[in-house]
Amino acid sequence: MKKILVLPGDGIGPEIVAEAVKVLAWVRDQGMAIEWEEALVGGAAYDETGSPLPEETLEKAKAADAVLLGAVGGPKWEPLDISVRPEKGLLGLRSGLNLFANLRPAILYPQLAEASTLKPEVVAGLDILIVRELTGGIYFGQPRGVRTLENGEREGFNTLVYSESEIRRIGRVAFETARRRNRRLCSVDKANVLECTELWREVMTELAGDYPDVELSHMYVDNAAMQLVRAPRQFDVIVTTNLFGDILSDEAAMLTGSIGMLPSASLNEKGQGMYEPIHGSAPDIAGQGRANPLATILSVAMMLRHSLDAPELADRIEQAVGTVLEAGLRTPDIMQAGAKEVGTAEMGDAVVAALMKK
Ligand code: IPM
Ligand code: MG
Repeated sequence: MKKILVLPGDGIGPEIVAEAVKVLAWVRDQGMAIEWEEALVGGAAYDETGSPLPEETLEKAKAADAVLLGAVGGPKWEPLDISVRPEKGLLGLRSGLNLFANLRPAILYPQLAEASTLKPEVVAGLDILIVRELTGGIYFGQPRGVRTLENGEREGFNTLVYSESEIRRIGRVAFETARRRNRRLCSVDKANVLECTELWREVMTELAGDYPDVELSHMYVDNAAMQLVRAPRQFDVIVTTNLFGDILSDEAAMLTGSIGMLPSASLNEKGQGMYEPIHGSAPDIAGQGRANPLATILSVAMMLRHSLDAPELADRIEQAVGTVLEAGLRTPDIMQAGAKEVGTAEMGDAVVAALMKK
């Protein structure tokens, strides 16, 4: 029996996760031995227990084969000390489970070409995968904090640090992934200014010797940000640090028209994974049934592929999403002229209906 821990979280999290759970039920009906239970994370967990990541949640996550997460955070918890903000729940899961490899695909569904703010001819056929390092770098580096100097002025500081082994293990994931795609890997750094990423570039270059079939290139992050909007199809797989990956993945998401479409997988060395939409908790539309559940549903597909060894079921879910888009169903974030606007639950039901038809 495979165990899945479901963490709805905050804002639109519970609404979109409810739709993804309908898809999990379909997976179980296909004869796969899975079971799931829910636990608290983020602001919802803080309100209930005083911690954004209760010990019980972390223990359950460690014992699960995969974790499905909605989203965390919201204005309600912004005044809290940074150590107990909802985001700490997410970061604690990432580091507690050692989920160092974050895969963030940016794929343009042909039906949504018009939804991008870029010209359709620039984004048509877009299929990029960002491999983001997720448990190191400036997000976790020590020392960090805000201190008061002798002259009474306050100073904030964070540390960007990567060991060779951390760079090598994310590099290997990226090379292996590129191998299964179009065999082009672009490593993004700021090696012209930051020593830490000069080392990053050196280690990536060394690794390339083990993957002669993959073409490695290097790009500075500022240029990469520009190239992503200038000519995004030049990229196949991008590998980068935690912070650069955070920023570039939001940018890449927007190329596809809506951040509401993109799933992600965060994996550790054991193949355990946490799966979540790359968008946030969207407090402005929470509780209104307007959120797009497709990114979360597509996260279930990634879960089937990467942690549950069921790539055929993953394919079917991805095809079903294509089918509902083809039928003209759109949540407000991807609405376009001539399409039919639907709410969160209607969209989830439509995907399940498409799955049942096959
Ligand atoms: C993401 C988010 C998180 C991050 C936040 C919510 C901590 O932006 O998953 O990209 O910065 O990693
Ligand atoms: Mg982000």
